[in-house]
Amino acid sequence: MEDIPGASLPVWAEAPGKAILFGEHAVVYGKTAVVLSLRLYTKIEVRPSKLGVTTFNGSVDLALANPYLQTALKLHPPGRPLELHVASDLPRASGLGSSAAFTSALMASMLAMGGGAPRSTLAAESFRVERTAQGLGSPVDTSAAVAGGILAVGAEPAGDVLWQLPADGGKFPWYVGDLPDPEWTWVVGFTGMQKDTAAVVRNVGERLRSPDGPALLDEIAKISAEGISALEQRDRERVGALMSRNHDVLVQLGISHPRLDALVQATRGHALGAKITGAGGGGSILALPPSGGEFELARAIESAGGVSFIVKVAEAGAQVRSKGETPH
Ligand code: PMV
Repeated sequence: MEDIPGASLPVWAEAPGKAILFGEHAVVYGKTAVVLSLRLYTKIEVRPSKLGVTTFNGSVDLALANPYLQTALKLHPPGRPLELHVASDLPRASGLGSSAAFTSALMASMLAMGGGAPRSTLAAESFRVERTAQGLGSPVDTSAAVAGGILAVGAEPAGDVLWQLPADGGKFPWYVGDLPDPEWTWVVGFTGMQKDTAAVVRNVGERLRSPDGPALLDEIAKISAEGISALEQRDRERVGALMSRNHDVLVQLGISHPRLDALVQATRGHALGAKITGAGGGGSILALPPSGGEFELARAIESAGGVSFIVKVAEAGAQVRSKGETPH
């Protein structure tokens, strides 16, 4: 995978969002999750500040209020105030990885300004910044933003291992492995409700202390493992069925919400499978249409009040350009 090149300001960078296909929540406990990076991007332009203070879309207050930006500036002081312009296809706090896409695009710019770095360094630093800013979490989102493609992330190696990340406050080091992309079209349905990942992760922690907790985690781990082999065999029906099975376990973990239930219900008869994607408690669902069925599925989601995104997997992760070249 190509390195992050050195660049002088102005720098443009972009990174993709993500949807978790299997294994959210269980991955916090080291089980393997499977994540799709999506062709929905956060783009950032970084210039030297004309005001002598760092700004975000023209505002000093927005810059000060952004925990990811503030953490990145603290961990990687750029040595000069910056002017950042940011635009994103990703709704915030929707389960689609907007903060990881922003963090990874920002860190790609900062590493480029510092002379460039291996992509594995971008992966480690993006995770460190996101985790420091959020106080918890796995490297699923930042891995998708940095590597692109479809990835297996967990405490055990799976797929074609790209890099290992240090535990950094967690219990174990993480493996990030590349999986084959069958190049299907996926449909995301956003409820319009922002979710609070930290609160949901804490509630799931409580839920997992009940006697059936370990069995629920093991069931999700089994689904991820079967899901990886179904993806490798390009078995679309099986991937869809496993998504629905994963959804049922997520409901048992207590992370659903009537709006998520309504969207998953609306996919019936239009999808091979559907599930909550990300933390839950709001946010989004991910559904797999039969071949050619994406518009019908998106319409069904919209009829139930969701915002639909018809998406393919992003082939590449974070990219940096400089000197007048802009991404896409
Ligand atoms: O923040 P979200 O909605 O993408 O959820 C992340 C997935 C969790 O497994 C719930 C948390 C994590 O850090 O892996």
